[in-house]
Amino acid sequence: MVDVRGVHKSYGPLEVLRGVDLRVGAGEVTVVLGPSGSGKSTLLRAVNHLEKIDRGFVAIDGELIGYRRSGDRLHELKEREILRQRSRIGFVFQSFNLFPHLTVRQNVAEAPLSAQRRPREEVEELTAELLDRVGLRDKADAYPRQLSGGQQQRVAIARALALRPKVILFDEPTSALDPELVGEVLEVMRDLARSGTTMIVVTHEIGFAREVADTVVFLDEGLIVEQGPPAQVLDAPRHERTRAFLGKVL
Ligand SMILES: Nc1ncnc2c1ncn2[C@@H]1O[C@H](COP(=O)(O)OP(=O)(O)OP(=O)(O)O)[C@@H](O)[C@H]1O
Ligand SMILES: [Mg+2]
Repeated sequence: MVDVRGVHKSYGPLEVLRGVDLRVGAGEVTVVLGPSGSGKSTLLRAVNHLEKIDRGFVAIDGELIGYRRSGDRLHELKEREILRQRSRIGFVFQSFNLFPHLTVRQNVAEAPLSAQRRPREEVEELTAELLDRVGLRDKADAYPRQLSGGQQQRVAIARALALRPKVILFDEPTSALDPELVGEVLEVMRDLARSGTTMIVVTHEIGFAREVADTVVFLDEGLIVEQGPPAQVLDAPRHERTRAFLGKVL
């Protein structure tokens, strides 16, 4: 479903991604671990073309993201095309990023109505169903500032799901939350994983990775040092750098 090949990205002289290859099958959950500054957020941002890349490519469901191929060169797509592609890729940020002036219901319904132009009745039904799924039906008419961090993040997840995304990218979705609110968000993510959602999750929640991930990837200095099933990467890491990192976070 997601195919990342040979992705390079520099900011000036700083090479942040140095040839990343990552494949995520349909319905699979990949957890990305790595130290601060290793390029995790940059990688997620490259997947939905919030970040241009210098070399390599990203394809989702066989479609190149952000570029079209002509001969052996890639040309960047027009903004409208990029937005169309992005409208099928969910992104959940550390900082929730809800629209503060819209209610919970409006936050969830916004993209399906305006970007995807789906019929209002269908979107209303879907919104109610998704708010149910994340346990927030009774908060439909509240504004984000009236919600706890955990509730806001669950709205953000419902909003991502409303796109009918091919994949959802999560960038440290629980690291801005008070400890007692982390569980409710991970529970929703566990439910998504169980129901076959394709997910790439950057997180330091090793317990979640162990329980939910099909594949754990360890990124360090812009390169994937190690990847495999959680039991291998977390419990029997082959590389010293993976061991050193796990030693710090476990
Ligand atoms: N827009 C930018 N301009 C210049 N440098 C950037 C930019 N975005 C990120 N970087 C640098 O790229 C490197 C990787 O950043 P990135 O945010 O991908 O790391 P990360 O693994 O997500 O770290 P963290 O765990 O702290 O979130 C860092 O050194 C960062 O300072
Ligand atoms: Mg980051």
